[in-house]
Amino acid sequence: MMGSSEVLIKARGLTKRFNSFTAVDGIDFEVCSGKCVGFLGPNGAGKTTTVRMIYCFLPVTDGELTVAGLDVKTQDRQIKGLIGVCPQEDNLDPDFSVIKNLQVYARYFDIPKQEATKRAEELLKFFALEEKRNAHVESLSGGMKRRLIMARALINQPKVLLLDEPTTGLDPQGRHLVWDEIRTLRKQGVTIILTTHYMEEAEALCDRILVVDNGKIIQTGAPKELIKQYVGKDVLEVEYDEQMVQTLKQELPDVEVEVFGDQVRVFAKQHGSFEQIIKQFPDKNVTIRNANLEDVFLKLTGRRLRE
Ligand SMILES: Nc1ncnc2c1ncn2[C@@H]1O[C@H](COP(=O)(O)OP(=O)(O)O)[C@@H](O)[C@H]1O
Ligand SMILES: [Mg+2]
Repeated sequence: MMGSSEVLIKARGLTKRFNSFTAVDGIDFEVCSGKCVGFLGPNGAGKTTTVRMIYCFLPVTDGELTVAGLDVKTQDRQIKGLIGVCPQEDNLDPDFSVIKNLQVYARYFDIPKQEATKRAEELLKFFALEEKRNAHVESLSGGMKRRLIMARALINQPKVLLLDEPTTGLDPQGRHLVWDEIRTLRKQGVTIILTTHYMEEAEALCDRILVVDNGKIIQTGAPKELIKQYVGKDVLEVEYDEQMVQTLKQELPDVEVEVFGDQVRVFAKQHGSFEQIIKQFPDKNVTIRNANLEDVFLKLTGRRLRE
């Protein structure tokens, strides 16, 4: 039996270089059994490269990486049997029907045909794709394709599920459906690594977040802890107004003020800091909201566009 604190994935000094370019720069991390861990980072941060090393698709350049105590360098066959992968790009086979995509994939794991079909039917049910059983992959919506890829990733009943941007490009309905499914899988004890650009998604699903940038892990923690530590409680947003900014700074010496373009954002450590003060500015269109993970992310990785 697995204890919930068992370390399932462990990286020490994990490094990936492409020629002279270092994409993953000596990172250390651990993923415990049954947890959902999110890798957040701007484009080019090294998320996909890390995920690809975990499922032994890319060889590591340096450092150590183990999955369930198995070494990616020498035990890739066993590791592949323990992992389900939902890659960043859709790579379903367009020549096959929905169910056939699952059945064919099952062959890589030597799952007997009858068993493969049984699992495929169950997975189609779980991912609400039963009606599309015999449809061609090309006829599926983006959300359905993503869910079929997740179904395919589960055909070998993996301990670990790697989800590389599982909801990119989906509409809100599609995204929330995928979230529900990820939550259910987590409850069933599947260990999940998730990469995403959606902070809301990481906040909703992840026990722990690793913020990566330029191949390095720059911060880790539970979403709520990171928000508390780096941002605080309340955020005020308003069009820039000199007098208002001065008043806020004077009356609330602890707040942090960030100006970008003609907007200003003010971060407060305490709930309810702003309400009294903004009454002095009744004609301003002020928004007060809870601090969130996106605030943390922008604070840690800056606002410069990548790639
Ligand atoms: N096969 C490759 N050859 C050369 N450079 C690569 C290769 N794969 C990724 N890179 C580079 O490594 C960096 C990290 O890429 P990636 O892991 O895909 O980032 P992310 O998934 O965080 O957006 C990027 O600068 C990317 O261009
Ligand atoms: Mg990527």
